[in-house]
Amino acid sequence: MSKNPTPLERVRAFEREQAMKLPAGERPLFHLTPLVGWMNDPNGFCYYKGQYHLFYQYHPFSRQWGPMHWGHAVSDDLVHWTYMPCALAPDTAADAGGCFSGSAVEMPDGQLMLVYTGVQPAGTFRRETQAQCVAVGDGTDFEKSLLNPVVRHAHLPEGYSEFDFRDPKVWRDRDGMYRMVAGNRHEARQGTVVLLESPDGLDWRFVGEIDASSCEYGRMWECPDFFPLDGKQILLVSPQEMHAREEFHAGFGTVCLLGDWDEKDCRFERRAVQPVDHGLNFYAPQTLLAPDGRRIMIGWMDNWETCKEAPRRHPWYAQMSVPRELWVENGRLMQRPAREIEGLWQDTVTHERVTVREEASLPGVQGRLLDMTVTLHTEGSACRRFTLRVARDDEHYVQIRCDLARGELVFDRSRGGSHRDIVHTRHVRAEVRNGALTLRLLLDKESVELFINGGERAVTSLIPTPLSADGITFAADAPVTLSVEAHHLK
Ligand code: FRU
Repeated sequence: MSKNPTPLERVRAFEREQAMKLPAGERPLFHLTPLVGWMNDPNGFCYYKGQYHLFYQYHPFSRQWGPMHWGHAVSDDLVHWTYMPCALAPDTAADAGGCFSGSAVEMPDGQLMLVYTGVQPAGTFRRETQAQCVAVGDGTDFEKSLLNPVVRHAHLPEGYSEFDFRDPKVWRDRDGMYRMVAGNRHEARQGTVVLLESPDGLDWRFVGEIDASSCEYGRMWECPDFFPLDGKQILLVSPQEMHAREEFHAGFGTVCLLGDWDEKDCRFERRAVQPVDHGLNFYAPQTLLAPDGRRIMIGWMDNWETCKEAPRRHPWYAQMSVPRELWVENGRLMQRPAREIEGLWQDTVTHERVTVREEASLPGVQGRLLDMTVTLHTEGSACRRFTLRVARDDEHYVQIRCDLARGELVFDRSRGGSHRDIVHTRHVRAEVRNGALTLRLLLDKESVELFINGGERAVTSLIPTPLSADGITFAADAPVTLSVEAHHLK
């Protein structure tokens, strides 16, 4: 390291030193954790020069949120990740208060451009402000533009906030223009997503507003993403301060607005609204377009409310969700784990049409590293209530209880080992379709991701349960037939 190291050089030296000390084997098998310290939102998720890149909101020096850096990891298959040196540190006048969330886009000259929110710290008589910055590099080292911030509050018409203006998602269109969506809190319409465009990534112009909460879906829209999918246009946002309504719970939500996009008139015609994920721990998702055309989404597998009370058992805190393939079916956004996960399948156990009633386990179906699909065949059965318990031992379990008559499922981790008085349950629609209900569960040590009916709804949650609790049981209030396909993961 040089005599007068820059803040970024200091972080990178700290990372090298920490990497040698970190205990092996504690991390989840396929969910990305920060190298060390704290992680929140996925940033700059992209496919660049033959590899997937995932940056993340990062505070290397503690397991709590702090001055935001960008951590970085790369992967060939979205399942195995290799750490790269920290990409951005808050070290210029434009971002001294933090390098907040943003995205990455390949430039025509082959360089990678990171676009992020620079937080400018509060001064005398001035609150902290937010504006958008760029840094360009080769995929490892990035140079911040001297023109930062390149998008300021002054770019926006009146009524938009300079204090809540963040999380640029940028892409390059076929006409060669860069386009950016960013979240803002409008004084009348509250959470909004604005669209800007630029010929070079430096010189930006406001185009319009894509959609707004208008008091319905939260007060600030964070981390927007905007992309075409199967003939529709998808707007993803992560609202703060939502009221519970329809299928949405209160607080930090993830919302998919599905509609039609008239680019010429900058008009987004909203057709449907749904939660992106119904679980206790999922926020701020971001997508990329894979070389094979798949739209893949990854989210922060946590939540601002519950993370405060979550145990800090490892030298790192927090993890990303599994990357998920998205598609639209019957007017809904659907999702399933990226198929690359199949590369981890080992020792598959199947049980075809077994009948259960009293709580029972099935031979070979246990563990905390599992990709398991349970299909409930309800035809001809008087069963109204079916209960699946995972991470089970004499003291603990995490329960998924299906109320077949109501078409609802309750995910409940309250017996999963938490000592905290925080929310532990979620109620989710789970309807029997053509005589069957399917539940696909990914278990990766301290997390459960549940996909209902082939990806109609997802429920993502962390579980604090000791890893020795690895039982799985099935029970029903009347005999019911089920099939199980369980892939152990390695
Ligand atoms: C969302 C968020 C973003 C912000 C970042 C800060 O989780 O609040 O809006 O850029 O986290 O770490």
